Amino acid sequence: MAFPEFRARRLRDHAVFREMVAEASLAARHLVQPLFIKEDLKGRRPIESLPGQAQLGMDDLVAEARRARDAGVRAVLLFGIPREKDAVGSSATQADGVIQQAVRRLKADVPDLAAIVDVCLCEYTDHGHCGVLTTVGGRQTVDNDATLERLAEMAVTCAEAGADMVAPSDMMDGRVGAIRDALDGEGLVHVPIMSYAAKYASSFYGPFREAAESPPQFGDRRGYQMDLRNAAEALREAGADLEEGADILLVKPALGYGDIIRRVKEAFGAPVAAYSVSGEYAMVEAAARQGWISLEAVILEIITCLRRAGADIIISYWATEMAGKLRG
Ligand code: PBG
Repeated sequence: MAFPEFRARRLRDHAVFREMVAEASLAARHLVQPLFIKEDLKGRRPIESLPGQAQLGMDDLVAEARRARDAGVRAVLLFGIPREKDAVGSSATQADGVIQQAVRRLKADVPDLAAIVDVCLCEYTDHGHCGVLTTVGGRQTVDNDATLERLAEMAVTCAEAGADMVAPSDMMDGRVGAIRDALDGEGLVHVPIMSYAAKYASSFYGPFREAAESPPQFGDRRGYQMDLRNAAEALREAGADLEEGADILLVKPALGYGDIIRRVKEAFGAPVAAYSVSGEYAMVEAAARQGWISLEAVILEIITCLRRAGADIIISYWATEMAGKLRG
């Protein structure tokens, strides 16, 4: 029998050819760094479950943003932690709220870095849910349509403060349309929406909830975030968001959700973002600290695989570190 004509090793064995034919590529321009701004904090407060990440006071936010920019990162995703929380998340929509102030300060001090704001109420409500509450059939749940108004107002106040993009992460139905209408109504037609289209109810968000001080005080988020067993539903979510005016479709978590990234990318051709979440970061950092894996190689592998799956944009707590390495 003749030897098969395809010998994969012919190209694989020579480093030049291996590089020449590599399909997925990674550059700093694809990376977004999440940052946490805490109202009234002086300095920075390390987040125990996210080693290397911290809640930042205003000056440290600017310093951290500059560090990201200098490493080659082009955009940050901002989360605000307010001094005061209440049932409706009042501080999320105040012109001088912590997140609006942070945006204004960043646009003044680091104007060439794009400021994306995560639009959601869970950091601002005292009950920790992503919207305002109501009682239906004797059980407490999030009031979808009443929440839309609050989210739209948050998006508008952030855009008025100078946010370059808004990213609704609440998973209410119809919020992309409500936010688009509100932005357009205020003449903010140029502000794109990156919609958390397929955001799953995931156990990988644990460290984030410590970082953002936003764990739900009762129940969980399965009444609004997606069931992790569903994939076809992700396409319906993404399609609906596109029709309502989403510019970028986000899939979250990333690790374990490569099939969703690929299917959303192929179904719509729209830009896709993958959010490599806090639990993914914590898990890898913890294993590396034990000396069980090689940190940098594993990070590079994870992010490259997300690109291969179809992600145009990768949101990662490693963005600044990796951008620096990619440049060097
Ligand atoms: C707000 C929000 C969450 C994350 C991003 N935006 C938390 C949640 O839905 O509970 C998680 C990010 C991460 O884990 O890194 N709704």
